[in-house]
Amino acid sequence: MEGMETTMRTHYCGLVDDNLIDATVTLCGWVDRRRDHGGVIFLDMRDREGVVQVVFDPDTEEHFERADSVRSEYVLRITGRVRARSPETVNPNMASGGIEVLGKTLEILNAALTPPFPLDAHHSVGEDVRLRYRYMDLRRPEMQQNLIARAKITSSIRRYLDAEGFLDIETPVLTRATPEGARDYLVPSRTQPGAFFALPQSPQLFKQLLMVSGFDRYYQIARCFRDEDLRADRQPEFTQIDIETSFLDAESVMSITELMVRALFREQLDVELGDFPQMTWADAMERYGSDKPDLRISWELVTIDDLMLDVDFKVFSGPANDPDSRVAALKVPGGATLSRKEIDDYTRYVGVYGAKGLAWIKVNERASGIEGLQSPIIKFMPDETVMAMLDRLQAADGDIIFFGADKRAVVNESLGALRLKVATDIDQVQMQWAPLWVIDFPMFERGDKGGLTALHHPFTAPACSVDVLRDDPEAALSQAYDMVLNGSEIGGGSVRIHDQHMQQTVFDLLGIDAAEAEAKFGFLLSALRHGAPPHAGLAFGLDRLVMLMVGGQSIRDVIAFPKTQSAQCVMTEAPGLVSDQQLRELSLRPKRNEPKAEG
Ligand code: AMO
Ligand code: AMP
Repeated sequence: MEGMETTMRTHYCGLVDDNLIDATVTLCGWVDRRRDHGGVIFLDMRDREGVVQVVFDPDTEEHFERADSVRSEYVLRITGRVRARSPETVNPNMASGGIEVLGKTLEILNAALTPPFPLDAHHSVGEDVRLRYRYMDLRRPEMQQNLIARAKITSSIRRYLDAEGFLDIETPVLTRATPEGARDYLVPSRTQPGAFFALPQSPQLFKQLLMVSGFDRYYQIARCFRDEDLRADRQPEFTQIDIETSFLDAESVMSITELMVRALFREQLDVELGDFPQMTWADAMERYGSDKPDLRISWELVTIDDLMLDVDFKVFSGPANDPDSRVAALKVPGGATLSRKEIDDYTRYVGVYGAKGLAWIKVNERASGIEGLQSPIIKFMPDETVMAMLDRLQAADGDIIFFGADKRAVVNESLGALRLKVATDIDQVQMQWAPLWVIDFPMFERGDKGGLTALHHPFTAPACSVDVLRDDPEAALSQAYDMVLNGSEIGGGSVRIHDQHMQQTVFDLLGIDAAEAEAKFGFLLSALRHGAPPHAGLAFGLDRLVMLMVGGQSIRDVIAFPKTQSAQCVMTEAPGLVSDQQLRELSLRPKRNEPKAEG
């Protein structure tokens, strides 16, 4: 029965164009709009490819009456003849804008309730309504285009990786904890009372084991699960393009995946991204206050610690003399026109990131020296210091300079965020696409409780020997790399530890003792002793990549059925309650509303 396909239509609505003039077509689709124009019925019919205008006149009596009776979102099948539109009604913005279909027959395939919101006025309802009726929301052309783009992007990526000799191998979803720094989603076991599976935060350990097995180029478009605080670019379940290789160094993995992304942009967007610059983590933090700098904006943070060591202004001299702190300046060219209210708003904005204030200098007229400046802080420092600062920043008339003085992390986060905010507000985002690699990350950071935590994950190889690592773990750099696009981390990976001695050392430094390491990662440590090859890999966040490529505001715009901010699906009402019987089978005790103890 090869090639047997009977379809109810001859063409997609959105693809009927001038080439089909005089042809008879049969179309299936939804009523986008119905208009009655003095005895003539216009129906805009919509399918995934777009909209076409169908006209019924009273000559086709029975069908005309039916056309008159249909309502928005009814499902129709119509047959008619394609004809050119009169010149004044041509719509150059649609593929089908030059034609219309003169309807001959109309069949109502299904009626529809009044839509919960008008599809072209989705902004008028809250996102919760759109998500509750997601199947309606997804009918909107914008959402259709997003999901079509997503399908094309994954298909392009598969083609590239297949051609490069990568094998698509699936890894389990019911598994043990795979640490990526988030909380696990747990699934209780029925057969092992009291025991739980964890859903994978990523396929990290399995892809490493596949390298031990010899599948030297692996990929998977893999669902990952992380129970963490949600933001516009985070979902509790999301998709990675997960990649692992053996016998390749960091540069090679970066080169293969960079070529993949460049090919993707060329194919899908006709955009030439060019070679990606590489920036060290230390440089990124110093110059942009971020490990994912948005290079579409040219402004940089400038350190002025050395100028502030002896000033009377304690707010600045304190941090300048503290190695864990920083005093930095951000020059906004042309920003002297910002009003007091705008500056106050920005002060509140950086407050969210922990900044205790936002000092500033407006440069009205440099030629007039101190007199030509306006600022709440210059009175606290010698004129020469102020002038040296302006020189360092190459400040010109009309600029404003903002300052941050605090713990290094606070200054970086607040001025880093301010840089993005002001540039967006005053329209200074100068390029469309700015990709880069961030490299040379530290192995560890000091956590809130004083212990070391892995900056990437505990399987990332350091760039030094076991002995050097032990001596000064906080100074050690890792062989990790992140791909950043327009200020968003779209992928990250590393060379892995393939030596069990090194792996144990890292566990040790992270405060995971031998017994705990054996209990949690015994299978990995054992595999490393059974001939583990040198290996390296990376994972892209597919949702973020697609969001950027389609110009979406949130990854929810490119996921068919996403979760809300509170990690729920309002359409299916998941997570939902289960019966006591199901709980008992899982050896879980039903949660009762305990009566309050009296007295
Ligand atoms: P990482 O944790 O950096 O690395 O994740 C890789 C990429 O996945 C995306 N991402 C997310 N996207 C949406 N919602 C989330 N909650 C979310 N969390 C992460 C990001 C990120 O760059 N196993 C390692 C990869 C490796 O070392 O090969 C890992 O998972 O775009
Ligand atoms: P004050 O002396 O508190 O009035 O502060 C003088 C100026 O310094 C004000 O513009 C404050 O917003 C600013 N400021 C205060 N603390 C900081 C800080 N930690 N970093 C940057 N600016 C600050």
